[in-house]
This record gives sequence, structure tokens and C-alpha cells, in this order.
Amino acid sequence: MQIGVLTSGGDSPGMNAALRTVAVVGIARGHRVIGIRRGYEGLLAADTVELSLAEVEGISRYGGTVLGSARSKEFPTPAGQAKAKQRVAELGLDALVVIGGNGSITGGHLLGEGRPCQIVGLPASIDNDIGHCGLAIGVDTAVNTIVEACDRISDTARAHRRAFLVEVMGRQSGFLAMRAGIAAEADAIVYGEQGDCGEDALVEELSAVLDRCFAPDRKKQRALIVKAEGVPVSSAVLAARLQKHLDEHHPGIDVRETVLGHVVRGGNPSALDRMIAQRLAFGAVLAVEQGAHDVMLGWDVPDDFGQATPDSFVRMVTIPEMLTETERLLDGTSPVVQRRIGLLEKVKDILAL
Ligand code: F6P
Repeated sequence: MQIGVLTSGGDSPGMNAALRTVAVVGIARGHRVIGIRRGYEGLLAADTVELSLAEVEGISRYGGTVLGSARSKEFPTPAGQAKAKQRVAELGLDALVVIGGNGSITGGHLLGEGRPCQIVGLPASIDNDIGHCGLAIGVDTAVNTIVEACDRISDTARAHRRAFLVEVMGRQSGFLAMRAGIAAEADAIVYGEQGDCGEDALVEELSAVLDRCFAPDRKKQRALIVKAEGVPVSSAVLAARLQKHLDEHHPGIDVRETVLGHVVRGGNPSALDRMIAQRLAFGAVLAVEQGAHDVMLGWDVPDDFGQATPDSFVRMVTIPEMLTETERLLDGTSPVVQRRIGLLEKVKDILAL
């Protein structure tokens, strides 16, 4: 078979490991593997490279994606869709493996209408906002990067007895803030899934956390607040208002804000991310051979949703099922998010001890 593969949307560490595995497993099983550069932009432009063994040797260890990525504006339009289908036919693709986040896999779902070729999605996004997927490719590395950054920040914070507000990526998803915040011994974790309580209530809540951290009878040397990007109050505004509170109630203590931004998305993938990418990609080639279409493979799928595959950690779900669950993850109604929030609520009051 002729299998196309592309990486699309925000890159994530481990995409290269997934690309290499699709190529190596595909070639080993007698297929031709065609890499498409710059995501759907490259598909529209028929910008391709045959992925030989030499082409993919040694790439698993690198962050980013050797094929490049893009957020295509043309592809979702009706004209873009028609052109993409035409390119699939011209390139003679029997299947397309889409490595990316929920937007990119949605793109695959749209392209797959009328089955111009089989579509198999592999979840790759640091945001971990993809339904029916325990850990997407790149999440583990991003969490580790945030924890390392918070550890460094804590060193300097303790040297000055300061408070720090650290904002992490994740778009609407608070997963990175939640997981990394706990690992980094944050005193408070703020995420959007709780619902918008309003700026004043948030400032009040965090001021109370700072009061506890810097109470006169305490020797605590730093306060760390980890805030998800999706919280609808800017870190600059929040930091300024917390500084006002500190000036009034704990004179001499400063708050600094750090927005980690794209630092969190780069870097060499962790061993876990490489392994997740490799096992999902192996599953993708097998799924293609079985004739699967409009599906996504998920790692450690909560509640064992979907169909079993030969790998007990990898399950197959349809892309429409994934999209429905993604919506519920983002609006906070998914039991998966409810469980996460429930756990954090239980420990909320002891974080700042
Ligand atoms: O979806 C991944 C992500 O890194 C989000 O966490 C972030 O909001 C967004 O992409 C940033 O996008 P861009 O790289 O286009 O600025």
C-alpha cells in the first residue's frame, strides 16, 4: 500500500518518533511511505518526500517535526477540501496517517468524507485535550519541561522570598497546569475547567493563598501559583493585583510572573513520549492494513473506551467519537475532567501548607 503521513497543527515532542515508526514499520511490512511536508499546506501543494529508512534514521530523539507543520487556512474551505481530495488521488495514497491535535484530526475526518483514502489519526498535542486518549504524544515531555522550569524558578524565588505566577500553555485545557503544578509543589493551581468565577473572586482566592504562605509565623520562602493559559484573566493583570495585596499585607514581598510559552512545546521528547509515539504509530500501520478508516488510536484510553488492538495500551476509536468526547473535555462535562477536578479540589487546601 502507499501510506501518506503528515504532522499538522502545533508540533509536539515525539512527533518525529511517530514519523519514524510509521516509516520503518510500513517499509518492513512492504508498504511505501510518503511524508507530506508542512501538514495540510503541503498536501495542497503536493510537497512530499518518500520516507526511506535513511531519511528517518535517528530522528526519534528530536523535538519539533522533520516534516514541518502548519495551521492551514485554505484546507478547511470547500475549495481546499476539494483540492486536498484531488491531491490524495494524484499522489495515489491508499491511506493517510494524520499526526496532530484535535483540529488536525478533525481535518482528517473532513478529508475522509467519501473515503478518498483511509484516514488514521494519531493524537499529538501538548495540551492533552483530545478525547479518548489518556496521554497524547508530547504531553509527558511538556510536563517535565514545566516542572524543570518551576524548579528553577523556585530556586530564585526562595533566594528572595518571593511569589511567582507561572503561566503554562494548554489552550483551553488545564491538564499541563494540573499535572505539572502538583509535581512542582505549587501552592495553587488555576485552570479554566472550573468555570469562570470572575477576576475579583480569583484575586481574592489567590490572595488568601499568599496570606497562608507568608503568614508571620511561617518561614515559607516561596509561593508558586501555576496558571493555565485558558484562565480568562491575563497573568500580567493577576500579578499586578496580587502585588497590590502583598504590598498592603506583606510589605517587602514581591510577586513575579513568568509566561513559559513555546518553551514548553520544544525540546527532545522524553522516553515515555517516544514510546507512546512508537506504539501508536505501529498500531496505525496495522490499522491501515485492516482497512480502518476515520479512526484515531489512543494511548491508555480512559474507561477502556473503543476497540482493542494487539497492544493492550492502545485502543481504536472513531474520529466522531473522539470529537464528541473532546467537546466534553473542553466544556468540563466529561467524567474524565470531573475526576481530575475532584482530585484537585480534595487537596486544594493543603497545597499551600
Ligand atoms: O495546541 C498547542 C499550543 O501550543 C497551545 O498550547 C497554544 O495555545 C497554541 O498551540 C499556540 O499556538 P501557536 O504556536 O500557533 O502560537
